This record gives sequence, C-alpha cells and structure tokens, in this order.
Amino acid sequence: MRILVTGANGNLGSKIVEYLLTKLSVEEIIVGVRNEQSEKAQNYKEQGLEVRVTDFENPETLKIAFTDVDRLFIISTFGDYETVMRQHTNAANAAKVTGVKQVIYPSVTRAEGNDFFLAVMHRARELTIIESGIPYVILRNNWYVENELGTIQGCMAGAPWVTSAGEGKIGWVYRPDLAEAAANVLVAEDHKHENKIYELSGENLTQQQFVDTLNKVLEKDISVLAVDDASYEEMLRGAGIPEAYLPMLVMTQKGIRDGGLESTHSDLEFLLERKATPLKQALVQLLGNN
Ligand SMILES: NC(=O)c1ccc[n+]([C@@H]2O[C@H](COP(=O)([O-])OP(=O)(O)OC[C@H]3O[C@@H](n4cnc5c(N)ncnc54)[C@H](OP(=O)(O)O)[C@@H]3O)[C@@H](O)[C@H]2O)c1
Repeated sequence: MRILVTGANGNLGSKIVEYLLTKLSVEEIIVGVRNEQSEKAQNYKEQGLEVRVTDFENPETLKIAFTDVDRLFIISTFGDYETVMRQHTNAANAAKVTGVKQVIYPSVTRAEGNDFFLAVMHRARELTIIESGIPYVILRNNWYVENELGTIQGCMAGAPWVTSAGEGKIGWVYRPDLAEAAANVLVAEDHKHENKIYELSGENLTQQQFVDTLNKVLEKDISVLAVDDASYEEMLRGAGIPEAYLPMLVMTQKGIRDGGLESTHSDLEFLLERKATPLKQALVQLLGNN
C-alpha cells in the first residue's frame, strides 16, 4: 500500500508523516509538498522518502503525484471560498482520474448544519469528495490548542486574555493527537473507516475555563477581558494585527460565541486507541517547546 500526504511541509502534514514512519516502511510513504527545495523536503529525502510536488493550483503536478497512490491525505488549504474550492476541486479531480482508492480529508467540527463560516467552507469540500464517489474518511478536527500560542505569549508579556466569544465553548485539541489519529486511519485495514465521518474534539471549555488551566500551568493570574465584537476588532487593530485579518478574526469569535466549535461527541480516543492529551499537558508541552 502506498500513502501520499499532501501539505507535508506544514504542521499537521509533517506530524502525520512522523507517525506514519513509526508504522510503515519508507517505501510505503510518499510526501507531497509545494517546494521540493525546502529544508523539510530535503530532510524527507535524506530519510529515504519519495518526495512529489503537489500544488493544488497546478493540476498537472497532482495527476503525476497521485499516480500509484492507494490512500491520499488531502490537506485543507486556507483562503477565501473561491480559492479553497478551486484548489480542493483540483485535488479531488486528480484523485479520481488517477484511481486513488481512499481520500482522507481534515474538516472542522460539526461541518454539516453549522453556519460557522469555517464549517460552511469545509462542508462544501467534504461534499466535493463524497460526490466524487471515491471512498473517503472525513476527520472533523476541532480547534488546535496551538492556535492560542500568540495570545498566550501576549498574556505572558502582561496583556489580558481579550475575547468577544462570550460563553461559547471550544473542544480544543492538541495537534499531534489529530496527526496521530489521521495516521491511524491512513494505515487501517481495508474498509475499517470507509465512508465514515469522525468528530475529533477535546473537552468543551469556555475561554475562562481555558485561561484557568493556562494559569495553573504558568502559575500566573491572567485575567479574561470580555468585550463585544467592535471593541475586539479595535483592540486587535491597536495591537498591530493587519487590517486584512480583522474580519476573519472577528467572525471567528462570533462563530465560537454562537457555539460553532462546541462538540456534541468525539471519536478522537476511538481513533487514537488511548486517552487524548489533556489540555493541561498539551499546554505544558507546547510552552516547553516555544
Ligand atoms: N483546526 C484548526 O484549529 C485549524 C487551525 C488552522 C488551520 N487549520 C486548517 O488545517 C490545515 C492544516 O493545518 P496546519 O497546522 O498543518 O497548517 P499549515 O502548517 O499552515 O500547513 C498548511 C499546508 O497546506 C499546504 N498548502 C497550502 N496551499 C496549498 C496549495 N495551493 N497546494 C498544496 N498545498 C498547499 C502548505 O504548503 P506549504 O508548506 O508549501 O506552504 C502547508 O504544507 C490548514 O491548512 C487549515 O486549512 C485548522
């Protein structure tokens, strides 16, 4: 069996490859990158892995790269709706014409029937894969603990934890857990996970509950400053966040406030075959590495 992981120079993809290397021989793993000259790509080659160019904006690279691939991890890209749909459709079409036997796609929490803007964009991509007829596994990843690193560093320098997400809950997850779960799916016996959609979340917590755990880890007393969306935007602007990111960041807070990242259940421990990393431990590991 040959498995190709696209986005293998990125955070999630590279971690998936790391886990695959503990389960398979190097001949069974192909890494897909946009830049073959990157340091990570060179490291892959030194480890004996085959490196192929997978640029979703360049369908020709995909038709070549996906040839002789049994299982394909299609990374989700980030951008406006039109861009991500074009890129994703190119990847799904290439998987179809090259005869890939299973596609694995990382989506977002409760993508179906969730009007959080990220869920809408992921659901459209889920449907592209489902409607292609290729057997699939969809992994609906909740919010990375790692997303909070910049805010945590600001708080460590004395800032409060500013949020307009109110009492909205998030099932924060540690990204290496998501990568390990994806690797387990990629190497699973035939049909075990075929055409399944899994929700991968941690414990549902409010911003205050997240900060309470952070305070225990840091032995600090960071306070939560709850504001409305307009004040949140103004504070981000004041902190020098580029104007282009502001609408997306405010929409994210609103989506969280409206429950867009609250999970109803999680299949993470089922796929990991172990307990998920608790938030406290994830923060210790994350902050120890940064
Ligand atoms: N659940 C969450 O909390 C959360 C948070 C952030 C993002 N996400 C989503 O999850 C994805 C993976 O997360 P991550 O942490 O691995 O992000 P990341 O480190 O930014 O990696 C994204 C990967 O996508 C690749 N990529 C981007 N555009 C591409 C294109 N046109 N064609 C082919 N590959 C392309 C990048 O390639 P290069 O290495 O060449 O740049 C990179 O390897 C993100 O892309 C985003 O959609 C989820």
